[in-house]
Amino acid sequence: MPNKIALAYSGGLDTSVIARWLVENYGAEVITVTGNLGQQKELVNIEEKAMRSGASAAFILDLADEFVSDYVFPALKAGALYEGLYPMATALGRPLLAKALVEIAIREGCDAVAHGCTGKGNDQVRFEASAAALAPQLKVIAPLRDWEFGSREEEIAYCEQHGIPVAATRENPYSIDENLWGTSIECGVLEDPKVAPPADAFQRTCSPQQAPDQATAVTIEFSNGTPVALDGVPMDGVRLIHALNELGGANGVGRIDMVENRLVGIKSREIYEAPAAVILHRAHEELERLTLDRETAHHKRKMAADYANLIYNGQWFTPLRQAFDAFIEATQAVVNGWVRLSLYKGTITTEARWSPNSLYDPELATYTSADTFDHKASAGFIKVFSLPMRTWHQVNEGKGQ
Ligand code: ARG
Repeated sequence: MPNKIALAYSGGLDTSVIARWLVENYGAEVITVTGNLGQQKELVNIEEKAMRSGASAAFILDLADEFVSDYVFPALKAGALYEGLYPMATALGRPLLAKALVEIAIREGCDAVAHGCTGKGNDQVRFEASAAALAPQLKVIAPLRDWEFGSREEEIAYCEQHGIPVAATRENPYSIDENLWGTSIECGVLEDPKVAPPADAFQRTCSPQQAPDQATAVTIEFSNGTPVALDGVPMDGVRLIHALNELGGANGVGRIDMVENRLVGIKSREIYEAPAAVILHRAHEELERLTLDRETAHHKRKMAADYANLIYNGQWFTPLRQAFDAFIEATQAVVNGWVRLSLYKGTITTEARWSPNSLYDPELATYTSADTFDHKASAGFIKVFSLPMRTWHQVNEGKGQ
């Protein structure tokens, strides 16, 4: 039996019930750990809530800068979008929250950690795989997988019995996970993929129909693949992402509605809102089109899908991720310059791009008299390039006999 447990705590109903439940069930001391990943919803009264839910101490950590520099930007540089669409705000946050949790657990002398993830999602895997990698000596407790409560009502009744404050806010019909890189929205009517998401499902973007009738131009500057300035104003990553979330959200940009494959085998319908992520992935990709040589660009694209799977599947703390990062970092030395995009009613259009490392050579590309490309050399190139095709068709189809 564990004596002291560190609980990953959000302040919501589930994790508040868990705090008390752990005290009751294990007779253990419980401390809570809450990470701020730059979510827009403020963490209000978290400490008081945790204590009234039975915790003996509550730790609140500001992880936004670390989240951006060590998790979000590496994924951006890799071009990692799960199944081609999802920028993975939730998936990228979990390993960092797990890392913060086990660090405090060890420092405070805990012998177990606990979380509020359900038994059918990806998050339990991300949490526990990360904890297993970083602190295998700690026991992991996942109350939602084994406790007696079958509904929200039962949890509320438990709170009333035990004097745990239940937020008087109206019940949200959705399950929402949110941080600086995006919002993930599930449950309720969204579970039916043939039904369009109702307007109230969206938390941080306006609908494209309600967006302004004028386009908004935005210029993003990159240094070694990292975004460093917006419209000529240098900004740190957290500020830049906040600013793009506002700008994109106001133009209806960044909504994603997808059916995705969870690691546990279920297909689920997910709504995401990630204005900054969608804008930055687009801008970064445009700059790579200008600056990466063809072979590296093509190879990197294939790797992006593997990198995304690795993040989605909770394999952040692995030697493979470090090896991917080494490759990706090596490709980014030339990803410098700016990209100008136009945001308009939910769409993003690339308008212009520039780089000191641009591989675009106007004298090779032009169809004017300034052309320096050796046209005559193409004949020999094509002759050799097409040799295998010529041979195959001659041998097998008697062509040209
Ligand atoms: N399907 C997404 C993922 O696996 C979002 C999960 C949202 N999590 C949540 N606790 N609501 O990354």
